[in-house]
Parts: sequence; structure tokens; C-alpha cells
Amino acid sequence: MQRFTLPRDLYHGKGALEALKGFTGKRAVICVGGGSMKRFGFLDRAERYLHEAGMETCLIEGIEPDPSVDTVMKGAKRMAEFQPDWIVAMGGGSPIDAAKAMWIKYEYPETSFVDMCKVFGLPKLRTKAKFCAISSTSGTATEVTAFSIITDYTNGIKYPIADFEITPDVAIVDPELAHTMPIKLVAHTGMDAMTHAVEAYVSTANCSYTDALAIHAIEMIQADLVKSYSGDMDARDSMHNAQCLAGMAFSNALLGIVHSMAHKTGAAFIDHGGHIIHGAANAMYLPKVIRFNAKNETAKKRYGVIADYMHLGGKTDDEKVDLLIAYLRKMNDALNIPQCIAHYDAHGLPAEKGFVPEAVFLERIEDIAKNALLDACTGSNPRQPSQEEMVKLLKCCYYDTEVDF
Ligand SMILES: NC(=O)c1ccc[n+]([C@@H]2O[C@H](COP(=O)([O-])OP(=O)(O)OC[C@H]3O[C@@H](n4cnc5c(N)ncnc54)[C@H](O)[C@@H]3O)[C@@H](O)[C@H]2O)c1
Ligand SMILES: [Zn+2]
Repeated sequence: MQRFTLPRDLYHGKGALEALKGFTGKRAVICVGGGSMKRFGFLDRAERYLHEAGMETCLIEGIEPDPSVDTVMKGAKRMAEFQPDWIVAMGGGSPIDAAKAMWIKYEYPETSFVDMCKVFGLPKLRTKAKFCAISSTSGTATEVTAFSIITDYTNGIKYPIADFEITPDVAIVDPELAHTMPIKLVAHTGMDAMTHAVEAYVSTANCSYTDALAIHAIEMIQADLVKSYSGDMDARDSMHNAQCLAGMAFSNALLGIVHSMAHKTGAAFIDHGGHIIHGAANAMYLPKVIRFNAKNETAKKRYGVIADYMHLGGKTDDEKVDLLIAYLRKMNDALNIPQCIAHYDAHGLPAEKGFVPEAVFLERIEDIAKNALLDACTGSNPRQPSQEEMVKLLKCCYYDTEVDF
């Protein structure tokens, strides 16, 4: 038996934010990030709509990118004081993910972060509050997913919390919120969405329900991501929907080792001055992982189907895999995303010399590989790597060398 779970309601299209006017409840806590939602007037509007709905509101502001366990615990405390019956999280993946974890702690104050990370092991939520997610970036699709990614800065590791209990009750996918994204964010989040769709399509947990969503998302992202990056606002609107479709696919089909590696490298070099931003990490690792996974016949065929839907040409599946890899690399170039860690600077842009020193990378590689193998996304990858293979893959992601094993 397989399960397919999505939010009960999805409001999409321009003006979808107004759906908040129809909410019923007494108290809503609004969780936001560093200020973009306030600066562009979306926070004011959300508050106004909730007041129109007769609700009292309270703000949890300043949730940082790649939110920490500490932020989650502090936010849950605020929720315990205010006792909301709605949690409305607004912004990119970071504030929405943090709010999801706060929700767990609010409903079950005794829960520790370690408890939360037990895959599909959460108790029933919604005994105190329902959850509405409003996305302002076009990539993570956390507004529809069963995941939340929280970083433990004591060891520099990102942990996915995975359970259908944290799939939001309501998702609001209003493209106006994505119009204000700077283009680097468009590029990174867009390639995150592409990776979600491709990994979901070849995941061992795929099914017809998720395939349809993943393939359509891939076609839309191929058509619109570079255009959106170049300033075409209709394409930007389309990308907001495409990433959401990709999210519906991967929330139910799960992901693969591109994400395992992105989670485990993301905060691993923070002591050297930067994060490897989630979407950029995926963009760099995806072509390498496709080459690795294509040794599995089923995966190779599925990559071939993706290439066909993208009209890339090629006669055999091997040719199609080559063309798919080349196409994705070309997208990275068009989006000004580096091809490997050695050329990834502290701001996520291509550079002659990246911010992660070679010696430090090699010193940490065994641990990173071990942690990546343990990541919740590894289990559904179509080819299970050994520790040695994971180390080799990570080296290819650092140096941009051929994956020939
Ligand atoms: N839960 C999931 O299913 C899932 C999936 C993939 C990634 N993630 C996680 O999500 C996080 C990344 O999220 P993200 O890529 O959405 O970015 P983010 O939420 O970290 O935001 C990045 C920056 O963009 C700004 N920003 C957000 N929206 C904006 C807008 N419309 N206009 C201008 N600025 C804006 C924010 O203020 C912030 O400074 C990572 O922690 C990643 O691991 C979660
Ligand atoms: Zn992702």
C-alpha cells in the first residue's frame, strides 16, 4: 500500500493571499524570516486579512535562513504563550520549515529535536493548531510537503524531519510573492525544484500519481526557469506553480542522494565563511548523481523518459542520459551557478577559487559521506552507494570530474 498526501486546500494564482480572509479561528501566529515579507508589504496584508477574519495575531519574526534548533525551540515557547489555533508561515523554505518544527514542539512540549527527526515517527498533530504555509520562493515547495529541514549548528548537519503529519492543512501559492525574488534566489530555488522533480521521478517510491506531477513540473521548469531568471514575470508565475507540482511529487515519492549530499555539505564549512546554498548544491550534484544512478537499468530508462519529455533527442537510453546531463549543466551556466564546489564562492557564485579549501574538504569527506548515507533521502535513491562510492561521488562534486564507477 502506498500513501499520497497533500494539503486539504491549495489556493493558487494572483491574489491567492486573500484566502486568509476566509479562515476561522481565534488566534493566528505568523512566522516570517528576515524582513522581505514586511518590506514588500505582504506581511501587513496577511495580518490585515486575518484581522478581517476576526482573528488576533502574534508575530514570530527574524527566522534565519537555514534555521537552527535554537530558533525552533524559542518559537515554540512563543506559541505556548500565545496559544494559537492557526500557524501561518510565510516566506521561503526557511521560515516555513522552522514553523513546522515549532508546531511539533507546541503540540508536544516534551518532544526533543532528536524525537522529531525519527522518520515518519511523529504523533498526531492538529490537537492545538492547524497550519497554513505561504511560499515566497519558487523551489522548496515546503508549503505542500511532509518535510522540514532544520540545521544543528553544533555539528553543522541539516536534519530532515519527515512525516505526513507536518504536511500543511492549507497552502497558498500566490505568484506575486515571488516577484520580488533577487535573480540569484530565482536560480537556486529553481534548480532545487528541478532536482525535486528529477529525484522524485527516479525514486524507488515513485508511482503513477507522483510521475504525472514530476514530469509536468520538469517540462514547466525547462520552459520557464531561465526565462524567469532573465526577468520574464509570466515565466516567474509559472515557476511558482511548477515548483509546487514538483513538491507534490517528491513529498510522496521522496528524493535521493542529491539531497542527501546537499543536506550534509550545506552547513559543513560554515567555519570557512559560508553555506553551500541548498539549491546551488543540488544544481551542482544532480548531473553527477544522474551519471551514478544510470548504472541502474530502471533509473537509466526513467532518465531516458525525462529526456524524451524534454525533447532532447538521442536514440538509446545512454545517449539520452548524456543529453540530459549536458542540458542540466547548460542550465547551471545560464543561471550563473558553479558546476562544482571547488569553484563555488561564499555567495554561491562561480569563482576561480571556491570558499571550501581542498584540504578541509578532504579531511571531512569520510564523515560527510557517512552522514549522507544515513540521510533520510538515501533510502529511496535508485542505486544504493557504499561508503567508498559516496566518498568518490563527493570528490566528483568537488572537482567536477567524471563519475565512472
Ligand atoms: N521542507 C522541504 O521540503 C524543503 C525542500 C527543499 C529545501 N528545504 C530547505 O529550505 C531552505 C531554503 O529555502 P529557500 O531556498 O526558500 O530560501 P530561504 O527561505 O532560506 O530564503 C533565502 C533568502 O531569501 C529571502 N527571500 C525569501 N523570499 C523572498 C522574496 N520573495 N523576495 C525577496 N527575498 C526573499 C529571505 O529573506 C532570505 O534572506 C533550506 O534550509 C533548505 O534545506 C526544505
Ligand atoms: Zn530541495
